[in-house]
Amino acid sequence: MGAASLDDATQAVILAGGQGTRLRPLTLARAKPVVPVLTRPLLGWQLALLRAHGVTDVILACSYRVEDVRRALGEAEHLGVRLRYVIEAEPLGTGGGVRNAADLARGTVFVLNGDVLTDADLSAMRRFHEERGSRTTIFLTRVADPRAYGLVETEADGRLRRFREKPGPEEPVETDTINAGIYLLDAALLGRIATGRAVSIEREFFPALIADGVPCYGWAASAYWRDIGSPAAYRETQRDLLLGRAAMPVAPPGDEHDGCWVDTTAHVAAGAHLVAPSVLGRGVRVGIGAQIGPLTVLGEETRIGADARVTGSVLWERVTVGPEAVLEDCVIGADVDIGPQARVAAGAIVASGSSVGPRATVTA
Ligand code: GTP
Repeated sequence: MGAASLDDATQAVILAGGQGTRLRPLTLARAKPVVPVLTRPLLGWQLALLRAHGVTDVILACSYRVEDVRRALGEAEHLGVRLRYVIEAEPLGTGGGVRNAADLARGTVFVLNGDVLTDADLSAMRRFHEERGSRTTIFLTRVADPRAYGLVETEADGRLRRFREKPGPEEPVETDTINAGIYLLDAALLGRIATGRAVSIEREFFPALIADGVPCYGWAASAYWRDIGSPAAYRETQRDLLLGRAAMPVAPPGDEHDGCWVDTTAHVAAGAHLVAPSVLGRGVRVGIGAQIGPLTVLGEETRIGADARVTGSVLWERVTVGPEAVLEDCVIGADVDIGPQARVAAGAIVASGSSVGPRATVTA
């Protein structure tokens, strides 16, 4: 296969089948690719980015809690993309997941980990891929602690020299450049991935391409990039979005008033105090004397009692917070009941469906 033509690469495969163990207990009740990010499913942000760069045909490689993904995204016509689901009976890993979508993929395709949030210029990545005559291009980013990721070393022209997934604690680390989990690849290469067993794209596919001399390049961009794999990253990413640190193609949902995004059906009682930046979803109710924000996200139908205080926190849908409760820098799953005068401290995560009794304290 030759280099891609300019109108190629309008297709993407999104890896959305992981169990998200690091994000438990949140992911016990909701698949990570559709956890709410400023009340919008995480993949909704990714689809908006893809759409902004002309990618309109998206294949979701799913395995775990597939119904969550369908419920959150459906066919995604409202987002201007065509969405198809490919489902693994048993998880096939990051390589096997893409291989499983091979029958639907043609030409040059984007492949994305379903847990990254970025404002990267995917059109520039596509141009780089074409200009180099690359057959696999990996978006590279730099992080302070690269050990938890795939380390990538390149030649001066960007050609991949070495790919090393999550090095052990005793192995030396010479680079802070990592695999950002977004690739452009020639679909013809997918035939190299074994079928019928789990395959890691990072541990098997990429190293084999490099060893076989297939032209593979790293595209280093200074874009906003975050992987929402851990509870801390999940909260920090939303903080970044609220603070405008990522140039996303879509705004947070709701109408903006003085730095807060408030759904038209949300109701804030007179005498309640809303501190920007914050997001209030559909049907939210905030009681008299309550303080919401800054850096707070209230999901659909969440109710905040009188004189409660919620700062730096992300609450999913249908959470009830009793009067005078205090929540700081925490994450609360869906359908949680928090009693009057209870306290949820910084870093705590409350699983979906649970209750916190009156005057109880929850710590991290
Ligand atoms: P952790 O368990 O916390 O490591 O999270 P994870 O299961 O999501 O794994 P990881 O973060 O390494 O996965 C990177 C991306 O690949 C995520 O978008 C996952 O949804 C996806 N993924 C991981 N394993 C599979 C799989 O077996 N099949 C498919 N289709 N996708 C996968």
